[in-house]
This record gives sequence, C-alpha cells and structure tokens, in this order.
Amino acid sequence: MVKVAVLGAAGGIGQPLSLLLKLNPNVDELSLFDVVNVPGVGADLSHINSDSTTQAFVPSSKEDKTALASALKDSDLVIIPAGIPRKPGMTRDDLFNINASIIKGLAEGIAESAPKAFVLVISNPVNSTVPIVAETLKQKGVYDPARLFGVTTLDIVRANTFISQLYPKESKPSDFNINVIGGHSGETIVPLYSLTNSKSYYNKLSADQKKELIRRVQFGGDEVVQAKNGAGSATLSMAYAGYRLAESILKSFTSSEEIVECTYLNLDSSIKGADEAKKLVDGLDFFSLPVVLSKNGIAAVKYDILNQISDEEKQLLVVAKDQLAKNIAKGVEFATK
Ligand code: NAI
Repeated sequence: MVKVAVLGAAGGIGQPLSLLLKLNPNVDELSLFDVVNVPGVGADLSHINSDSTTQAFVPSSKEDKTALASALKDSDLVIIPAGIPRKPGMTRDDLFNINASIIKGLAEGIAESAPKAFVLVISNPVNSTVPIVAETLKQKGVYDPARLFGVTTLDIVRANTFISQLYPKESKPSDFNINVIGGHSGETIVPLYSLTNSKSYYNKLSADQKKELIRRVQFGGDEVVQAKNGAGSATLSMAYAGYRLAESILKSFTSSEEIVECTYLNLDSSIKGADEAKKLVDGLDFFSLPVVLSKNGIAAVKYDILNQISDEEKQLLVVAKDQLAKNIAKGVEFATK
C-alpha cells in the first residue's frame, strides 16, 4: 500500500498535482492537507473512479495539530507545495519570511507522524527551504538525507522545451532530458546543454542566442509571474514537474531499471558519491545533481557530470555556488536559531 500526502493541496499547484496523483495506479491512498478549502478539493477528487482512496484534512484552529498528524500518518511520500507564491517584481528569496515558518511547522509534523517518508519540497525558496527541512528533521532525530528532495524538475522541463522551441522543425521537447544543476532560483539554475543530445543543437546557436537561452531557463518563472499579473506563479507546469519527480520515485519502489532524476539534495557522506560531489562544488552542503533513485531513497549521486561540463558552464557555476552558499546558510540559520 502506498500512501502519498500533499501539504498545501488546495493551492494553485496542490490541486492539479493532486489530480495527477489521483490518476497514478501506484498510489493507493491520497491524503490532502491544507489550512483552507481542502475538503472541497478532496470531495471533488474522490469521485474520480481511479482505484486510490482520497481523504482531506483541514485544522479546526491554529492550534489544532491533529489534522496534520492524521493526514501524514504512515505516508510513504510527502509532497509540499504549501506557502505563498511570487507576485511580479518579487524574487523567490522574498518569500523566505513567510514560507520558512510554514515549512518548519510541516517538517515537525512529518518528524512526528511520517518519519520514514520521502519528502519532496516544492515551496520556495527551495535553496533555503530544503535545508530548513533537513535541520528540523535532524533536531527530531529522524533525518535520512537519502529521502529529502528539493524539486527542481520544472527547470529541466523548461530547459527541454526552450531548446526545442529554437529548433521547431528538427526537434520535439520530448527529445531532450537536459541535466539542470545547482539550485532553483535565477543564476543558481545551471542548465548543462553541453552534455547529452542537446550539445549539437546548442553548439549551432550564436553567442547571443546561447546567452538568451540560459537566461530564459534561469528566469523562465518570471515569464509566468508576469503573465499571471499578480495572480501567482507557475502552477500547472509546476504540478506536472512535481508529478514527474514523484512518479519516478514511485516507480523506483518496484522497478529494477535505473531511474535518474535531477534533484536538490543534501550532499551528506551517507549517500554514495556525495563526498565526491561536495568536493567538486567547493564544500556546499546542498546542490542539485542527477541522482539514482531506489526504494530506499537516493542510491547514488552522479557527481561525475561535474567533470564533464564546458568552460562556459563552469563560469555559470561560480556565480551559482556563491549565491547558493548564502541561501543555504540562511535556511540553516533559521532552523537552528
Ligand atoms: P498558492 O497560494 O496557490 O497555494 C499555496 C497553498 O498553501 C494554499 O492553498 C495555502 O492555503 C496553503 N498553505 C499555507 N500555509 C499552509 C500550511 N501551514 N499548511 C498547509 N498548507 C498551507 O501557491 P502555489 O502557486 O500553489 O505555490 C506554492 C509554493 O510553490 C510557493 O512557495 C511557490 O513559490 C512554490 N513554487 C515552486 C516551484 C518550484 O519549481 N519548486 C515553482 C512554482 C512555485
């Protein structure tokens, strides 16, 4: 029996993400939690004739912790899109003050009621919220770095789509699976077009086109924030991206084939390849890299990719690492103060 909990399930991302999970045959129980509106979302989804059950939980007051505990109890996978999204002109870091507290509270609930769950963090700023979850679980004595995932999949999805749009006749978005490493905000996002089958397409671009493409992947979220004009940030493409990572993880519970996804992870010595990766990223504790998934969590980090990147990508990483160090420190400081 596989139970998946979505925290923030009534939101812009939470609703379509829950819909996709409701359709996944590997999910037996879908558990929805939010501080508002979630009973309606749950009732709506529960009419779909897929085989999973759906339950929705909303706290009766600010002090009520039982709804979260019931929602989380015995979950195998917990996905967190709870928190406020950006408005035009805001950076992801501007969300820190509100979302950091929300994430810390939810991580405490996970420690109590689902200490063995895989935790997928969507709430921004991911570069800082993932360290907050790690520190909180550590404080509660239940932390397993192999089970914590910062969701950066939307950057990969955008990287695939945007290069294909430059070659509409020669390619389809689904031809690509670009590795995007670093973090999940602005210049910390580093798409590796020099690797895999994207290389020949990328190399044909002019210097200006290359620069514009990288910038578009790094700041693609702003296109959606501006187009929504105050009504939030990416929700549908994000739900798809979050679902893609969740689907891969669910597959890895039973599949014997190697399943690899990029994720923002804790480069902890207990994970195979993490020490090597950490050395190559100047000692950063958190970084997004391709990882091999397994039923016990992250089985290995594909650190060797860092030895294969172009000089141009190395330059992008210098900027990314500098910003990431600050974002990570901010999260750790918040969670340990
Ligand atoms: P939204 O405002 O539509 O939904 C957020 C939901 O969280 C709301 O239903 C709200 O009631 C709920 N919530 C607030 N506090 C809560 C708590 N303590 N427990 C449970 N639920 C709580 O926002 P949206 O658009 O769904 O975005 C959610 C988050 O995802 C934002 O932080 C946004 O920046 C982030 N995001 C991350 C992306 C990524 O690539 N990782 C991409 C796009 C957005």
